Formats: sequence, structure tokens, C-alpha cells
Amino acid sequence: MSTSTASIQFYDYHPREADFFAEVLDGLSREQKKIPPKFFYDEKGSEIFEKICDAPEYYLTRTEQNILQENAEEIAMIIGHHCLLVEPGSGNCEKVRLLLDALKPQAYVPMDISRDHLKKAAKALSADYPWLDVHAACIDFTQPLDLSFCPIGMQKIAFFPGSSIGNFEPLAAVKFMSHVVSAVGRGGGMLIGVDLKKDKDILDAAYNDEAGVTAAFNMNLLERMNHELNADFDLDGFEHHAFYNADKGRIEMHLRSQRDQVINIDQQMIHFDEGETIHTENSYKYSIKEFQLMARQAGFMPINVWTDPEQLFSVHYFEVPAA
Ligand code: TRP
Repeated sequence: MSTSTASIQFYDYHPREADFFAEVLDGLSREQKKIPPKFFYDEKGSEIFEKICDAPEYYLTRTEQNILQENAEEIAMIIGHHCLLVEPGSGNCEKVRLLLDALKPQAYVPMDISRDHLKKAAKALSADYPWLDVHAACIDFTQPLDLSFCPIGMQKIAFFPGSSIGNFEPLAAVKFMSHVVSAVGRGGGMLIGVDLKKDKDILDAAYNDEAGVTAAFNMNLLERMNHELNADFDLDGFEHHAFYNADKGRIEMHLRSQRDQVINIDQQMIHFDEGETIHTENSYKYSIKEFQLMARQAGFMPINVWTDPEQLFSVHYFEVPAA
């Protein structure tokens, strides 16, 4: 019988709190007002996000889970055992569970910007997988990835599910993937979930769930500014507005002002016209070919891709050529 005990390390690279204020003021002084989506994920935001994943209209999470579950053995065969598995934006660390038994990585490195959420998720995972070496890092993964704190000598595989890559602008997505290429190095790989282009009605419904969970997630940004930045947003003065922009191949999420109004954020006054929006997030959708081309531009070679029978979602595996 194995006598191994759970091993867990924690590393804190969280950005300074002051960044939130500076980035909000900068974003709200633009012609098209905007706020970087990473600020969605405070403790409450991370909790609401998990509820989005369970909304019946939000097909992404369950479809990706089915793809991972059904193909775990084949994925493990291609990747091989004993890798170092790195997950930027690991959230509740639920999806990786679908892979662990088949993949048997030597170490798992969950990374997330939400510190307490990360700690909780990493502890729960470690308790359930005592053989797994867990190194959790609180990190803003939109910055270049530095894996120097990780154990060395293993093949590095990045796991990036949930179509999080779609939340980058396409050029930034290529840049992010080129950071991943550098971080995993030659012979390393990336298993990545990407939402596919499809009918506008399905997409619009996915980001406008009946129960209003996605709306609550978006609106939480205003509450967060009220609490943390001493802002005075009236939550009844704004509404969630999400739609598929087919020309750009993306879902756009906005917070729309329902009237002409002025908001104070810690002494600064911000004016909103009626109907004016804060652009809070994009979610780009890519065909398999489009996405393979982007990954190639970043330095990856397409190795395999899995989809569901309805072609709603894709999971790609790429490698960095050995030489
Ligand atoms: N990356 C996923 C998507 O684009 C999940 C996600 C990120 C999301 N931010 C979101 C879902 C905001 C709904 C709203 O769908």
C-alpha cells in the first residue's frame, strides 16, 4: 500500500491592490469605456462564475467535460504519464479531475488570481489525490508565465480549458500562447478548450441565461467597485448586455447605463450617457482551422483535436517541436 501523503505548496504573486483603481480609472476614461475582465474574479465573482457553468443555456462547460471524459485515455496516451501539468486560471480545479486518473501527472500547478479560492480548491484537490504533488500559485496569468518555482526535469503541459483563450483579443491570444511555448519549452505541450463558431441564437442564449446568473456576474463588477474603490454605482442604473457580434466572431459583454448619470469613484467623476456602455469582456469563437493557425503562429504544432457530436466545442492538443 502506498504511504504517500498529500503534498501542497503555495506561492503568492498576486498583483498589488492599487492596480484595480488605476486600471478602472484608465479604462473608464476611454472613448469606449472598458474594464479588464480579470477584475471579475473576486471571491464572489469566482462563486457566481461557477454557477454560470451550470446554467442550462451555457453549453460550454458540460460539453467540454464530456469531451475530456470520453477521450481521457487517448489524451493520456498522446501526452504520456508523469508530466508537470500547469493550469492558468484553474478556478475550482474541477475540470482537471477528469484527466488526473488517466494522465497520472507527477505534479500539478494550479494558478489563479483569486487567492482564497485557489487555496481552497487546491487543498480540496490535494485531499482527494494524495499521490499528486500540488504547487498552487496566485498569479495574474495575463503577464508572461514564469515557471521557475516549479519542480524541474519533467515534460511540461499547459492545461487551458473553458475557452478562456477566447477572452483574449486574437493578437493577445497568440502572444499568450507564445508565452506558453516559452514556459513549457521544447517537447512541452498544451491541451486547450476552444468554443467553436456557431448559430447566433445558441450563442446569445448562452450568455443571457434565463436565471440571470451571467447578468449577476457582470453586475458584480459594479458592486466590487462600490466596495473596494469607494464608488457609488446605482445597480438599478445599469444592465447586463451581451450579444454575438458575427463580424468579429465574438460575444461582447457590456454594462449599459439606463440613463444619463454621473458616477463618483473616490473623488473622480465619470459621466455616462443613456445607453452608453462599459465593455467588460469578449469571448471569441474560433473554427478548428482558425485556431490551429493561431497556435502555429505562436510556435505550436497541432497534434490532435477532439469535438462533440454537435460540433459545439473543441479540445486541441499542441506540442512545441523538439528541434
Ligand atoms: N471563457 C468562457 C467564455 O468565454 C467563460 C467566461 C469567461 C464567461 N468570462 C465570462 C462566461 C463571462 C460568461 C460571462 O464563455
